[in-house]
Amino acid sequence: MNTQLLHIVQNMPKAELHIHIEGSLEPELIFALAQRNGVPLSYPSVDALRAAYDFHDLQSFLDIYYAGASVLLKEQDFYDMTAAYLAKAKADHVRHTEIFFDPQTHTARGVPIGDVINGIHRACADSDVSATLILCFLRHLSEEDAFATLDAALPYRDKFIGVGLDSSEVGHPPEKFERVFARCRELGLHLVAHAGEEGPPAYIRAALDLLHVERIDHGVRCLEDVDLTRRIASEKMALTVCPLSNIKLRVFDHMREHNLLQLLDAGLVATVNSDDPAYFRGYVNANYVAAFESLPLGLQHAHQLAKNSFAASFLPQAEKDKYLAEVDAYFAAFDVV
Ligand code: ADE
Ligand code: ZN
Repeated sequence: MNTQLLHIVQNMPKAELHIHIEGSLEPELIFALAQRNGVPLSYPSVDALRAAYDFHDLQSFLDIYYAGASVLLKEQDFYDMTAAYLAKAKADHVRHTEIFFDPQTHTARGVPIGDVINGIHRACADSDVSATLILCFLRHLSEEDAFATLDAALPYRDKFIGVGLDSSEVGHPPEKFERVFARCRELGLHLVAHAGEEGPPAYIRAALDLLHVERIDHGVRCLEDVDLTRRIASEKMALTVCPLSNIKLRVFDHMREHNLLQLLDAGLVATVNSDDPAYFRGYVNANYVAAFESLPLGLQHAHQLAKNSFAASFLPQAEKDKYLAEVDAYFAAFDVV
């Protein structure tokens, strides 16, 4: 493998646009918080917990992911989790990150939504990585629950920039949340949704047409529909692709079969992200490295992916331009590899 290219990819300035903060909770921190909060765990050790991270699909992952989040009770727990992620992001040369959080996972256990949002937000404010927050609705829960969550979050409206849709995809199509997203749109929130991870291309169409999302999270199954692929390309609709997640959750059998290169070749604004780095064993750089080691991606692709990551962000245009100039200056130093 071209080690110079890997070095370039790891050191390039980048944005991360698809990271669930609860998915950054490392087993060591789960155990430390369980002890601090007196929460019983069903695993005797960190190693035993890690050994259980053997997923065969999205649901088998989500069951363990929600169990792991049960140790988060206090504002400081949310702060510590977020600060740990931001330190990893900084080490991976992430300049800007748009962080998902799942309030319903915590409010269902009696944690006040203000503690969730304030803890995560305070860690972002204390970091020198630029970080904004996206509140995700759990799609396996009801529309009514999503509306109640939105209402409860509104006193903290200045602390998040958008909303998303995550959790079990198949059987919970975007149309279930059409009215919630319409309300969020009126409130001026940015809109994203997971679609086309395990669900069919029809879910991506519904996210575009009914939810009016500005980015598709995952979206890798769009290539099954030629017209949809053309549309996503012509609308410059970004996809937040998560390579290691797709392998661990068996969306693709092997990284050699991942369609990241086909997405780029189809002219799509694909980006590389970590999704749930503690569970899929890799923060954002590990995702780039895994993809570049297994697929015929070169220097031009690295440059494109770095640019896509900022272009697809919800940063103000002047900020985007600043980071895009930093990316171009970084790549100007390298000859074609
Ligand atoms: N929540 C955390 N990670 C997720 C994923 N990959 N898909 C859907 N919901 C999630
Ligand atoms: Zn995700």
